[in-house]
Amino acid sequence: MGRGQQRSVNICVEVQGNGKAHMESELMRSMARQRRVVCVALFTALITFSAYVVYINSGIPPEEDTSFFDVQPAPASLLDDPLMEDVPSLTNSTSTLTDDDQTQSGKNVSTSAYSEGSSEGPSPAVNSDNLLNETFQNNLIQAEVSPTPSQSLEEEETDDQVLEEATPASTSQNTSSLQPSNGECDLKRGEWIPDSRPPMYNSSTCRYIQAFQNCAKNGRPDDGYLYWKWKPDHCEVPRVDARAFLTAMRNRLMVFAGDSIARNQIQSLLCVLAQVEDPKDMYHSEDDRNHIYLFQSYNFTLRIHWAPYLVRVEDKPYTWPDSNKTEIVTHVYLDELAEVWVKAAVGADVLQLSAGQWWYKKAIYLEKGEPIGCHTDPPCFNELGFAKPYGTGIANVLKGSLSIPGFSGTTVYRSFAPDHFEGGDWDTGGYCNRTTPGGVPLAYLTELMYSAQIKQFKSVTEELDIVARNRLKLLDITNLAQIRADGHPNSYRNQQDKIADKTPEGIRNDCLHWCLPGPIDTWNDLLVESLRDVIFR
Ligand SMILES: *[C@@H]1O[C@H](CO)[C@@H](O)[C@H](O)[C@H]1NC(C)=O
Ligand SMILES: *[C@@H]1O[C@H](CO)[C@@H](O)[C@H](O)[C@H]1NC(C)=O
Ligand SMILES: *[C@@H]1O[C@H](CO)[C@@H](O)[C@H](O)[C@H]1NC(C)=O
Ligand SMILES: *[C@@H]1O[C@H](CO)[C@@H](O)[C@H](O)[C@H]1NC(C)=O
Ligand SMILES: *[C@@H]1O[C@H](CO)[C@@H](O)[C@H](O)[C@H]1NC(C)=O
Ligand SMILES: *[C@@H]1O[C@H](CO)[C@@H](O)[C@H](O)[C@H]1NC(C)=O
Ligand SMILES: *[C@@H]1O[C@H](CO)[C@@H](O)[C@H](O)[C@H]1NC(C)=O
Ligand SMILES: *[C@@H]1O[C@H](CO)[C@@H](O)[C@H](O)[C@H]1NC(C)=O
Repeated sequence: MGRGQQRSVNICVEVQGNGKAHMESELMRSMARQRRVVCVALFTALITFSAYVVYINSGIPPEEDTSFFDVQPAPASLLDDPLMEDVPSLTNSTSTLTDDDQTQSGKNVSTSAYSEGSSEGPSPAVNSDNLLNETFQNNLIQAEVSPTPSQSLEEEETDDQVLEEATPASTSQNTSSLQPSNGECDLKRGEWIPDSRPPMYNSSTCRYIQAFQNCAKNGRPDDGYLYWKWKPDHCEVPRVDARAFLTAMRNRLMVFAGDSIARNQIQSLLCVLAQVEDPKDMYHSEDDRNHIYLFQSYNFTLRIHWAPYLVRVEDKPYTWPDSNKTEIVTHVYLDELAEVWVKAAVGADVLQLSAGQWWYKKAIYLEKGEPIGCHTDPPCFNELGFAKPYGTGIANVLKGSLSIPGFSGTTVYRSFAPDHFEGGDWDTGGYCNRTTPGGVPLAYLTELMYSAQIKQFKSVTEELDIVARNRLKLLDITNLAQIRADGHPNSYRNQQDKIADKTPEGIRNDCLHWCLPGPIDTWNDLLVESLRDVIFR
C-alpha cells in the first residue's frame, strides 16, 4: 500500500503543480474546486488506472480473474505516463460547464452555495435545514440569471421533479415536511443526534485505515465528531452488527466498485467486521485498488474494484478535429460497463456501485463505439459538459448491472459524496475545520451530480418490471453526508502526503475523503439496513 500510495501522491503533485489557477472570480474558484476534487480522487488512483488500462486492452481475462492483475501488472513505464494531463485545467471560468450546465448554474451560484456556511455552534440535533433554503435560493438565482429562458424552463421542470426527491432536508425541524409522510421509514430523512457510544473501532483496533484518513493518528485533536448518530424520522438505524452480518453473509459475496471514496467506505466496513474476524487477504493489485478479502470462518468474500467511471474507459490518443492536435484523452464508453466489476459481480449477492468526481475530467464520450461529443476546457467542438453524459452513463450502469449473466443479486447505487471546502478552494487555502455537524450549504456541483443520479435512478426504476425493480436500490447518503463537514481529514493527513503535496501556497487540506472512524461509518449502517431483507433473508 505504502509504495503505491507514495507514487500516486507524487503524481498528484504534478497535477496540482499543473493547475496554475488564476482566481479572478468566484466562479473560477468553484471551477478550481473541481480540479481539487479530481486531484484528491487521484491520490491513490493512478497506479491502478494504469493496470486498468492494461486490463481493458487485454480482452477477457482468464477464469481466475483474481490473479489477473498479478499476471499482468502495470508496466513500470506506465506509472509515469501523462495520464495526469487529463485533469481539466479549469482556468477559464466559462468553459467547463456546457451552456446547459451554465443555465443551471447561473454565475455566482456555485460559490454562493459554498461561501461562509452558517454558524456552527453546538446544537442538540442537526438536520439539514439551511441546505434546502440554500437550494431554493440557488434555484431562484439560477432562474434569474439564466440567459436562455426556454432552456432554463426545461431544466427547471426537470429540477422540480428531481428536487422533490433529491433535496435534502427541510425547512422545519422535521425533514418529513417535504414529503407527504405516512410515518414510513425513509432512511435519508432525519437528523444527526448526539450519541455517547464510542465508534466501533479506532486506529489501534483497525489496520485497514489508510494513512491519509487516519485522522486521530495524524493528530486531529477533537473527537466530538465521532459522537453523533443518524436518526431517520420514523425509524432507527442500528450499527452494523459484525457477527450477525458475517453469519448472514456466510458463503456469500459482496462487491464494491467505484473510486477512492468507495474504498474509503469499504475500509470502514472492513474495520467494523475485522473486530470479529480479521479477513484473509486473498488478492490485492500492486496499487491496492483492487482487493479481495475472505472472512474464512464465514466463507464471506468482500471485493473492491477500481472503476471510477463505472463505464468502460480507455486512455488513448485522439486527434481533435478542430485543431488537429493529438493527445491522450480518456475515452468514456457511455454504453459499455467497466469489465472489472462486471466480472466480479458474477455470483455476487450484493453489488454496490458509485461514481462521481472522475466524470469532471476532460473526455471523449462514445456510444456504440462512436464519438458523440466531448468535454474539455476550453469547450471542444462538440461540448457536452459532464452532467448529461454522467446521467447517461449511470442509467446504463444501473440497467446493465441487472442483466449481467450470473449475477442475480442486488445492485445498490450509492449517491454522490459531497466535499466541503470552506474559506477557499483546494488550492486557495480551503479548509474544513468544523468540529460539529451542520452549517455548510450544498455546493452547486453536488446538487448537479446528485440530481442527475436521482433523476436517472427514478427513470430507470420506472421502466423495470417488479422483479428487477426489487433488485435495484439507492443508498442515498448525500444529504446526511452534506451536514457532516466535520468528518473530513482536513489538515490531519499523514505527514508524508502533506509534504509531498505542499505548494508555495501552503499545505493542502482534504475535505473530500472521510476520517476513519467517522461519519462515513454510517453509510454502511444504512447499507445494511436498506438491505435487511436481502442480507438477513
Ligand atoms: C479564457 O477565456 C478568454 C476569453 O473568454 C480567452 O481569451 C482565453 O484565451 C481563455 N483562456 C484559456 C486558457 O482558454
Ligand atoms: C458575484 O458575486 C460577487 C460578490 O457576491 C459580486 O461582486 C459580483 O458582481 C457577482 N458577479 C456576478 C457575475 O454576478
Ligand atoms: C428559509 O428561508 C425562508 C425565507 O427565505 C425563511 O423564512 C425561513 O426561516 C428559512 N428557514 C430556515 C430553516 O432557515
Ligand atoms: C417531528 O416528527 C415526529 C414524529 O414524526 C414528532 O414526534 C415530532 O414532534 C416532530 N417534531 C417537530 C419539531 O415537529
Ligand atoms: C481504541 O479502542 C480500544 C478498545 O475499545 C480502547 O481500549 C483504546 O483505548 C482505543 N484507543 C484509542 C486511541 O482511542
Ligand atoms: C464459499 O462461498 C462461495 C461464494 O462466495 C461459494 O461459491 C462457495 O461454494 C462457498 N464454499 C463453501 C465451501 O461453501
Ligand atoms: C487538419 O488536417 C487536415 C488534413 O491534414 C486539413 O485538411 C485541415 O485543414 C487541418 N485542420 C486544421 C485546423 O489545421
Ligand atoms: C476554522 O478556520 C478558520 C480560518 O482559519 C477560523 O477562522 C475558524 O475560527 C476555524 N474554526 C474552527 C472551529 O476552528
